[in-house]
Amino acid sequence: MSKYQLQVKGIDKVFTSGSLFKKSHFKAVNNVSFHVKQGEVLAIVGESGSGKSTTARMITNLIKPTSGEIFFENTNIKDKKFQKELPERCQMIFQDPFAALNPNHTIGYAIGRPLQLKNKVEGSVREKVLELLTLVGLTPAEDFIEKYPYQISGGQKQRVVIARVLGLEPEIIVADEPTSMLDVSIGIDIMNLLLDLKEERNLSYILITHNLGSARYMADRIMVMYAGEIVEIGDCEEVINSPKHPYTKLLLQSSPDPWETNDEVIDFIEPIDTKMPQTGCKFQNRCPFAKEICRSSEISITPLSDKREVRCNLYEKEAVTI
Ligand SMILES: Nc1ncnc2c1ncn2[C@@H]1O[C@H](COP(=O)(O)OP(=O)(O)OP(=O)(O)O)[C@@H](O)[C@H]1O
Ligand SMILES: [Mg+2]
Repeated sequence: MSKYQLQVKGIDKVFTSGSLFKKSHFKAVNNVSFHVKQGEVLAIVGESGSGKSTTARMITNLIKPTSGEIFFENTNIKDKKFQKELPERCQMIFQDPFAALNPNHTIGYAIGRPLQLKNKVEGSVREKVLELLTLVGLTPAEDFIEKYPYQISGGQKQRVVIARVLGLEPEIIVADEPTSMLDVSIGIDIMNLLLDLKEERNLSYILITHNLGSARYMADRIMVMYAGEIVEIGDCEEVINSPKHPYTKLLLQSSPDPWETNDEVIDFIEPIDTKMPQTGCKFQNRCPFAKEICRSSEISITPLSDKREVRCNLYEKEAVTI
């Protein structure tokens, strides 16, 4: 038995676009490796376009990595037999609950149909749907089961999506910005619901978010991505209280801090050329600490302890051997 429930080893994703004669390639995810233990919440944060959703889609097998391997416990998810099992064991919650539900089907159908298809109920499907609606706090459940998506609010739709996912009894849930389309108080309700369900069912989550507050609220560990690469990964509190990578510092500096506890203000560079550098550190043009070596040579992600890794020349001397 693997000590990790999910282990991602050096995955890349290259997207190809253009015509037959003029193709262009874009590396959206570059050599990403991480793990998730059972019952753990890993938050993935990073700016728009940093490869968070692409990583999530590879884990849930919606798209294939160009290279690298993903293991669910000990099984490679490429395994043909396992691919039938994977959608039940690893489910995804998408950002937009409005698009996730078919407007022509009732809530009861939206939750009940996958249960029927996957033979998840022995008795009455209706009873199981009512149970799931109650579990996610949509009560009285009889009032919701016959409704159509347009008759319920955004927060209620996201609860329906969560009920549908839970019906399949997954072990890992990959939630891609599950609260970003909801107002703040409803977003907190959904996060609390996810945390309660995690405790109840010993679930693991990969939570993708723009919001460092949500990451801090929910996650045990945090993984920061920039331009398709992991730049820092470690315990959530440690990363937030003492960020190492300049990009993590920028992220924290850009987050609202009503208590103004963050007294270190760094002057980041606003690059004139927004193209990604072809060699060296991807953050070099925005980094006020960049040295010649950051522009000329690639930097690999190095461990600073058994729990913390960072991809930055500033910490080369602090690197430890694990
Ligand atoms: N199917 C695709 N074809 C080509 N390029 C793609 C495709 N999907 C994503 N990309 C590109 O890959 C990069 C990473 O996209 P991704 O959706 O993973 O970003 P993200 O970190 O989830 O961003 P956001 O926070 O905005 O959701 C982006 O530059 C995006 O344009
Ligand atoms: Mg995304």
